[in-house]
Amino acid sequence: MSTLSIIFVGFGNVGQALARLLERKRKMLDEQFNFDYRIVGIATGRHGMAFNPDGLPMENVIAALKTGGSLDSFHTGEKLRDTFDFIRSSEADILFENSPVNHKTGQPAIDHLRAGLEAGMHVITANKGPVVHAYKELTELAEKQGKRFLFESAVMDGAPIFSLFRGPLPAIELKGFTGILNSCTNLLIGLMEDEKTFDEAVSYAQSIGIAETDPSADIDGWDAAIKVCALSTVVMGVPITPDQVDRQGIREITPAMIQEARAAGERWKLVCSAHRVKDGIKASVRPERVRPTSPLFSINGTSSFVQFETDVLPGLGIVEGDPSPDTTAYGLLADLINAVRGR
Ligand SMILES: NC(=O)c1ccc[n+]([C@@H]2O[C@H](COP(=O)([O-])OP(=O)(O)OC[C@H]3O[C@@H](n4cnc5c(N)ncnc54)[C@H](OP(=O)(O)O)[C@@H]3O)[C@@H](O)[C@H]2O)c1
Repeated sequence: MSTLSIIFVGFGNVGQALARLLERKRKMLDEQFNFDYRIVGIATGRHGMAFNPDGLPMENVIAALKTGGSLDSFHTGEKLRDTFDFIRSSEADILFENSPVNHKTGQPAIDHLRAGLEAGMHVITANKGPVVHAYKELTELAEKQGKRFLFESAVMDGAPIFSLFRGPLPAIELKGFTGILNSCTNLLIGLMEDEKTFDEAVSYAQSIGIAETDPSADIDGWDAAIKVCALSTVVMGVPITPDQVDRQGIREITPAMIQEARAAGERWKLVCSAHRVKDGIKASVRPERVRPTSPLFSINGTSSFVQFETDVLPGLGIVEGDPSPDTTAYGLLADLINAVRGR
């Protein structure tokens, strides 16, 4: 049995959920996949960084972060200059990169992942930025290094979307997809159906941790658009960036519009779609009224859905109910296992 050294860059909700999941699955990883692991390093944005080749005391590390403390006191060895020094000097086997998404450039996550690959690690992320802005470069670099660049959790968290197109669907032709890919806006529209105002709905979503302090990336459709781009780039093989998506958020949906749709037996949804056209891909994110016959109609709360349009399976859809950092962590764990067993 081998013991893998793991480092984390970004250790917030997702990183911590993954650390807990890894611990819970440790016995299963040993029994079924023949490996153990040791978390040897963590780098954050504002809470310092720590490296210890013998393994970090994870319970204490998480407790320190919960109280807003720094990781620097857990560090052993020479002082680290920056995150790149941390990555390069760690000699780890696996890098989990879970820093915040940058919709416009994918940075600094792209540089973190590149540094990990160059240093001979498998690199795994839930961050959509590098998938959209550097998929080709990082995939080619990973191949050159004999390593993997995996990102299952970047769209629909732990639901198998990208891996579905890496094996189980040989020779299929993907013509397009339609779905609901942003949990926050789906919840907000649902709350407005329950007669909350837009502002009340946003406040409630913020109070339960679904909407960010600045919820504009969700409300204005940027998060949905970058997910459309990630799917187009990877599973359809046509790289596009968020500014190429015909994007409209939900700010203009009024309570009156919602009630009018309800009276007609319909619902508003923020619909994401992409379809092949003669010279590429036509991609959009926009509010649409959907009928009860649409599979989108019954996607409630924070759930997500995608339906793929293929030449052989006309109605292949995947629903993910109740996403959370724990479901995201599962996608990262699945990537780890697939990297280790060469899938
Ligand atoms: N939350 C979810 O369920 C979910 C689902 C799918 C995908 N994702 C993606 O997963 C990633 C992490 O999400 P999260 O919810 O865990 O975010 P989060 O709670 O805000 O945590 C972000 C982490 O990244 C660190 N960080 C910030 N800037 C950094 C930098 N320049 N270099 C290194 N570390 C940096 C932060 O450190 P400080 O706190 O010290 O600044 C923090 O540890 C994001 O890309 C997100 O889009 C999340």
